[in-house]
Amino acid sequence: MDQLKSLTLDEIAKAETIEALEAVRVKALGKKGALTEEMKKLGGMAPDERKAFGARINEVKAVLEAALSERKGLLENAAIDARLVAEKIDITLPCRPEAEGRIHPISQTIDEVTAIFAEMGFSVAEGPDIEDDFHNFTALNFPPDHPARQMHDTFFFDEHAPGERLLLRTHTSPVQVRTMLNQKPPIRVIIPGRTFRCDSDMTHTPMFHQVEGLLIDETTHFGHLKGCLIDFVRAFFEVDDVPVRFRPSFFPFTEPSAEVDIGCSREGGELRIGRGAGWLEILGCGMVHPNVLKNCGIDPDKYQGFAFGMGVERLAMLKYGIPDLRTFFDGDLRWLKHYGFAPQDVPSLAGGLAR
Ligand code: DAH
Repeated sequence: MDQLKSLTLDEIAKAETIEALEAVRVKALGKKGALTEEMKKLGGMAPDERKAFGARINEVKAVLEAALSERKGLLENAAIDARLVAEKIDITLPCRPEAEGRIHPISQTIDEVTAIFAEMGFSVAEGPDIEDDFHNFTALNFPPDHPARQMHDTFFFDEHAPGERLLLRTHTSPVQVRTMLNQKPPIRVIIPGRTFRCDSDMTHTPMFHQVEGLLIDETTHFGHLKGCLIDFVRAFFEVDDVPVRFRPSFFPFTEPSAEVDIGCSREGGELRIGRGAGWLEILGCGMVHPNVLKNCGIDPDKYQGFAFGMGVERLAMLKYGIPDLRTFFDGDLRWLKHYGFAPQDVPSLAGGLAR
């Protein structure tokens, strides 16, 4: 019995694979194994002898089983380690510059705008493309049958209940409403996303993109709105002294409202952002209308704030000299190769917006 024990322990220690270990187990403890054979002798023994021998067999069996299971654990861990080494992928290698993929100018522009406002403490909020009348119009202080509802050339779905139909959001402003209904002030969000209007010509596509901004707290005034947007425009166009003009305007959801123009020159037929004789409109903004705050469950006597909205395609066309809006959505790989951005150049204010 001692010999069987030490021989088997030795074999267990020398087994280098799970399969070899299993063979050792079968040889000692299997149906026809050495220890099993010993057990068969018990039947022919006198009671006293049987008791002592039986105890001895059980003791050896327990020792062998413990050794087998320990060795098995070791071998399994070693197998996992070997596999981890064999399957290792070095993800620190930079991507190959000749890689075909490009970031679309729309994605790039949204990332740039986000990077600038993130630096100012805004976080990103999103909402659904399919909206209802309440979020897209009513809560934003569009009166029923107000012409502004038609101005938006809305895509409506069929009625799903009498008098009720969903629509494709005509602007990102409904996400302002969703944010105010779901968060308590102070609120500071920017909202990039797809928007839809039934309009298609040289300068309009039925689907386009906007970035919306919303800030609500107890002390914000129009001066903060101006400062925030002037800083944004200068960071985005990377022209430190670009003139910025706030022109009175109207939106149902802001009061007062303004449109923002930036300076440009058009000498020799070439458009340049910066000091010059011309102006270019780039966004709409204003102080959030008290009715909108009320509709969203916020007390207008305590809270106020500003909002703004801009078209992403327009920003991209101006910054990157892309002449035709419709080419954004043609899916032409040659165009994307020319106007697209390298995937590893993630825009940041510290690292540079676009190279
Ligand atoms: N929603 C407006 C549009 O699509 C853009 C806009 C203007 C958004 C002023 C705003 C804002 O938040 O304050 O034409």
